[in-house]
Amino acid sequence: MKADHLDLTATVAETVDLTPNIRMIRFAVPQGVLNLEAGAHVTFDIPKGDGKMTRSYSVVDDGKYPEMLSIAVKLEPASKGGSRYMWSLRAGDEIHVSANGNAMPPTFSASDYILLAGGIGVTPMTGMARTLIRTGKTVRMIYCVRTSDEAAFAEVLDQVLGEGLELLCDSAGQKLDLLRLLDSIGPQTVLFMCGPQGLMESVRTGWQERGLPVQNLRYETFANSGNFPTRAFQVTVAETGRKLRIGADENLLDVLIASGHDVLFDCRRGECGLCKLQATEPCTNIDHRDVFLSPSERARNDCLCACVSRLSGGHITVHIDGIQHGRSG
Ligand code: FES
Repeated sequence: MKADHLDLTATVAETVDLTPNIRMIRFAVPQGVLNLEAGAHVTFDIPKGDGKMTRSYSVVDDGKYPEMLSIAVKLEPASKGGSRYMWSLRAGDEIHVSANGNAMPPTFSASDYILLAGGIGVTPMTGMARTLIRTGKTVRMIYCVRTSDEAAFAEVLDQVLGEGLELLCDSAGQKLDLLRLLDSIGPQTVLFMCGPQGLMESVRTGWQERGLPVQNLRYETFANSGNFPTRAFQVTVAETGRKLRIGADENLLDVLIASGHDVLFDCRRGECGLCKLQATEPCTNIDHRDVFLSPSERARNDCLCACVSRLSGGHITVHIDGIQHGRSG
C-alpha cells in the first residue's frame, strides 16, 4: 500500500528524546502497510474539545526499525495543542494516522543534489539523504541549527553522508553563506530545502535572480513559521456574510470548512496556492506563512493562503469565490 492511502490506527511503540525539545516517536503499524517514499508526510488526528484537529509531520528514516512509522516532534513553547499532545503520547497509546502526500517527492534524474535543512526541517531530509546515496547520487547537505543541542540528526546524517554533511551551528558563529551556496549551483543541480520561512524566501529569491531552473528547487514549509505570534483573529466571508473567529490553535481553512464553506485546498502547507483567498481590501495584519505567493502579492497584502497564513490580530473580509486558485502573480 502506498503512503497516499495510509489510513489507520497506529500504536505508540516508543518515544526517545533526541534533544531537550525534539522527541522521536515511533509507531507500530499493521504489517505490510508501510511503503513510505522519502520525504512523505503523515497526518495525525489530535483531540480538541469534542472534535479534533490535525497535525502533519514528515516521516523520519534514520535507518532503524523500518517496519515502524517514525516521526520527530519539536516541542513548541507556544504550542496550543499539537506538539504538546504529541509529546504527551506514551508507549501503548493509539492515534489515527493518514497519509498526507509528499511535498518533495524524490527525483533521480539529476546527478548532483543539495539538501538544505534548518532546524526541525531536517526530518524529511533523513530519508532523502539515504535514498539519494543508495541510488548513487552525489549529495551535499547543509544542516543549520541554532545550537548544537538542536542538531538531533547530525550523527545519523554523518553516518550516511560523511564529508558530504556540513553542520552549521549558529551559536558557534557558523553562518550559512547563502550567496556562495547559490553561486555554486549549476543548472543540473537539484536543491531540496526545508526550514524557516526567512531562509526559504532568501533561497527562492536568489534562485530566481540567477535564472536557475524552477523545477530544480524543491521545498516544503513549516506550517507554524510566521512573522508574528499566533493569535486569534476574525474573518467575514463576503459571499455568506458569516463572521468567523479563528482561534490561536486553529487555521482559517479548517474553520471555513467546519462552518460549511466550500473552499479549494490541497497541500495544506502553504505550497500549492489552491486555498488562496482574496481580501476585499488590503490588510497590513496579514502574517504570510506560505511559500506560494510572490513577493509582489505579499506586498499588496490583499490575499492570503487560508491553510497556513493568518492575521496577527484584528479582522479581514475575504471572498471565497472568484479566485484564480493556485495561480501566483
Ligand atoms: S492548500 Fe496548498 S497552499 Fe493552502
